Amino acid sequence: MRIYFVLIAVFMGSYNLSNAQPNMPELPIQLYSDDGDGFVIIGHRGASAYHPENTMSAFRAAFEMGAEMIELDVTLSKDGIPVVIHDETLERTTNGKGKVSSFTLSKLKKLDAGSWFSNTYRGEQIPTLEEVLEFARDKISVNIEIKPEAVTDELTDGIEEKAWELVKKYQMNEYVLFSSFDYRAITHLKELDVDISAALLYEKQQSKGRSPSRLVTDYSADAFNCSYREFSKKWADEADSEGFPVFVYTINHERRMKKMIKRGVSGIFSDKPDLLKKVVDNMWKTK
Ligand code: G3P
Repeated sequence: MRIYFVLIAVFMGSYNLSNAQPNMPELPIQLYSDDGDGFVIIGHRGASAYHPENTMSAFRAAFEMGAEMIELDVTLSKDGIPVVIHDETLERTTNGKGKVSSFTLSKLKKLDAGSWFSNTYRGEQIPTLEEVLEFARDKISVNIEIKPEAVTDELTDGIEEKAWELVKKYQMNEYVLFSSFDYRAITHLKELDVDISAALLYEKQQSKGRSPSRLVTDYSADAFNCSYREFSKKWADEADSEGFPVFVYTINHERRMKKMIKRGVSGIFSDKPDLLKKVVDNMWKTK
């Protein structure tokens, strides 16, 4: 009987090993359909190569293409509602003009966030964070990037608290990774609840020459996010020896995806999650 259990344990061990890639750090979030490879396919602003970025159609498409996480940008409307849009101003991705923060949600909802991309998407709206979480729950993990322009020195009733309240409302605590280029947001999130998963989005000025591992420690971050251009071999060795996950943005080319996967990243932000999935599936298969 004892030998039987030992054999099962050995079998389970070898099964896990063949599935997980070597030296992958533990992920800071849960995935709804975890294939156990320790790597996350992230749809950057949804599947934004094919649909207008940060819209429901881009998020739906990313999910359908096999992304395991969607990344979105969140800021506040004039009346303090978390809304999903990348730029501080409306011009590039809507038919509106001016700062997002100068418009109430009801005004923002009247704007067209799809036609700039293609006429097919005429009438697509700026989503609220709540709408995206309602869609994502039970389907796909979310990386909520808090835009620096919405961050203040105040903790109470700030964008971090509002976003966190919504995440709790949709019971996605373990499926959401926060991030921000404004390091105050990471500090605030950890003050709200130490168990919130938050990644530091590398920003040179605030980093003041500190290494990724120093930054992760200083801000009690759960992951380190940076541009693939910044993720040198030196940083990769440091992340590997310290054992923290790194997610790199934004890669839409196969060759660069492969290079970063070999360098040991835990996930890649791509506007083409379908391509990333294909690359990952092929790399794991041919290992
Ligand atoms: O969060 C990853 C990436 O989206 C950061 O850059 O400019 O697209 O917000 P940006």
